[in-house]
Amino acid sequence: MRLSHVLSVDQFDKPFLTEMFYQAGWIRQAAGHSIVHLRGKLLANLFYEPSTRTSSSFYSAMSRLGGTVLPINDVTFSSVSKGEILEDTVRTLACYSDVIVLRHPEVGAAARAAACSPVPIINAGDGIGEHPTQALLDLYTIQVEQGRLDGLTLTMMGDLKHGRTVHSLVKLLRLYDVSFNFVSPVELRMPAEYVRPGIDREFTELEAVIEQTDVLYVTRVQKERFNPVGDVDYALTTEHMTIAKPSMTLMHPLPRVNEIPLALDADPRAAYFRQMRNGLFVRMALLMHVLG
Ligand code: NCD
Repeated sequence: MRLSHVLSVDQFDKPFLTEMFYQAGWIRQAAGHSIVHLRGKLLANLFYEPSTRTSSSFYSAMSRLGGTVLPINDVTFSSVSKGEILEDTVRTLACYSDVIVLRHPEVGAAARAAACSPVPIINAGDGIGEHPTQALLDLYTIQVEQGRLDGLTLTMMGDLKHGRTVHSLVKLLRLYDVSFNFVSPVELRMPAEYVRPGIDREFTELEAVIEQTDVLYVTRVQKERFNPVGDVDYALTTEHMTIAKPSMTLMHPLPRVNEIPLALDADPRAAYFRQMRNGLFVRMALLMHVLG
C-alpha cells in the first residue's frame, strides 16, 4: 500500500504501521542525521492555526532528509487575508511544492484540499476532527515505551470532546486489543461516535482508574474551541503518580497548560518529551513513504 494524501487514521492498516515503525526505528538509530533521501523535494507548511511541534518537526524532518521547506506559518501574511479560499491557496502552493502539510480550524479541510490538489496533502489537524500524524507518533511511543500494543489499559484524561489527538488515537488503537478509560469533566466527554457502549468506561475522576492504567494520555482544555462555563480544570498530581504502576507511561501531545505539574517531568514515567522527539522520526518515515 502506498498512501498519497494522509487525511485520517482510517487509511492506516497494520502492515502500514509496521513499515512506518520499522523505518522510524531505523531513523531513530541514526538520530535523524544523514538520511538524504528527499534532496530536491520541497514541502509547503500551510498553517491556519498556531503550531510549535507539528510545524517545526515537519520542517526539521524534511530538512534532515535533504529537502527544503516553504513555511507559511501565519496565513495572515498571505493572500488568505485578501479573502483567498483554501482551494486556491492549495492549488497555488501545489505549483511550487511536492507535498503540502495543512493545519486548518475546520473539520474536513484537509479532505477539501486533497480534492483539488495535484500533490499529496498531509492533515496536520483539522479543527476538532483528526490529527493522524500525531496518532502515528503516539502509537509509536506506546510501542517503544511499553514494548507492545495489545493487552494494554489506556486512560485518556482531559478535554476529550474537542481534542483531535485523542479522536485520532482512539480510532487507531481500535486495530489492537486495548481497554479504554475516558476521564473528563461531564461537559468535555468523548463524543459518542468514539465510545463503544458497554465496553469503554467513562469517569469524571482519575482516582477510579489510575492504578490499573498502563498508559495515561493527558490533554489540555481546548479553550480556543468553546467558551468554558464554570470550572473545567483537572490536573495530574504527585499523589496520582504514587499509586500509579511503576511501569506506567505518561503521555501528553503538548502544549500543556497546567494539567501536568513541572515537578513530574523528572519522573521516568513521564514520556512526553520522548514522545515529541519520536514525532521527528515518525514524520521522517512518513515523508519518505509519501514522497517515495
Ligand atoms: C495538539 C493539536 O494541535 O491538536 N498539539 C500538537 O499537535 N502536538 C494538541 C493541542 O493543541 O492541545
